[in-house]
Amino acid sequence: MSTQQALQTIYPGRVWPDNRGQHIQAHGGGIIRLDGAWYWFGEDRSQGNDPAKRYVSCYSSTDLVNWIFRNQVLATSAPEPLGEKWVLERPKVFHNAKTGKFVMYFHLDGEEYPGAPEYSAARIGIAVCDTVDGDYKYVKSFRPFGMESRDIGQFIDDDGTPYLIFESRPTGSFSIATLTDDYMDVAEEICRIEAPLEGGAIVQYEGLYYCIGSHLTGWFPNPNKYATAPSLAGPWSEFKDFAPEQTLTWMSQSSNLIKVVGSEATTVIYVGDRWRPEEHWDGRYLWMPVKIGGGKFELPSPTTWTLDIETGRAKITGPNYY
Ligand code: GAL
Repeated sequence: MSTQQALQTIYPGRVWPDNRGQHIQAHGGGIIRLDGAWYWFGEDRSQGNDPAKRYVSCYSSTDLVNWIFRNQVLATSAPEPLGEKWVLERPKVFHNAKTGKFVMYFHLDGEEYPGAPEYSAARIGIAVCDTVDGDYKYVKSFRPFGMESRDIGQFIDDDGTPYLIFESRPTGSFSIATLTDDYMDVAEEICRIEAPLEGGAIVQYEGLYYCIGSHLTGWFPNPNKYATAPSLAGPWSEFKDFAPEQTLTWMSQSSNLIKVVGSEATTVIYVGDRWRPEEHWDGRYLWMPVKIGGGKFELPSPTTWTLDIETGRAKITGPNYY
């Protein structure tokens, strides 16, 4: 039931109200398409949350502008002894059509052993549910191929094959991995990109793969980069800026790329976070259609815009909206 008037416009960086009129809590999120609807999962950092727990929320939409709050799909105390400052970040949900399960991957971190530094556990956590927006149950954590893994990303190719992207600091790289048949583990590291980048996201556009990522500067933004490759296994081109360097990716950090294939056009949307570490609940989202094609990828200056989900056409409507 909607209590809000339907929204027409996307305002990058502004408070984004859900159907209840509350700012969407889906930071570091992942967006998947299922049965004609879109589902947005992300870190729920609502002010009223129990500080000992970590939360993931799920929203659904049919137009990518109006989002219905579905459920706080994960609300968990530390599933393992990781210290008080443990984290559960960047959740991504994969739907396994064979098993019918929804498998949530996330960055699980904290003290590797009591007294060790924060973010030293560097693991992937998995939670599972039978429905897209039900209560997910924690299953396990692991290091993919035995490697440290912090930020994770998700890519589902046009043929439905799911891939996990993960960043590994000791190797100064980020990897693209396939999943096992049941999606409960990584299967094969199909590419190790020798670039110390996180917040990884990939889109396939007109037969070319575009990969984006952020430098390792914590909550503070930096000039994110992109590269292209004819196949996920590479070879990847050198990494270049996709927004004017001094804007620090228009003050955002990459988390996703959404491809909208309409009857007339295909639009690729950059999904970035504007973190507010002192007021995490007020972290904002920067969504903008990118200029993409022929090996070029550019995130234009943020403006208001609209999306026609049927035709796939995005229209810039507003003034610059930095
Ligand atoms: C960022 C990362 C976030 C979070 C943060 C903590 O680089 O992308 O997901 O882990 O660091 O400082």
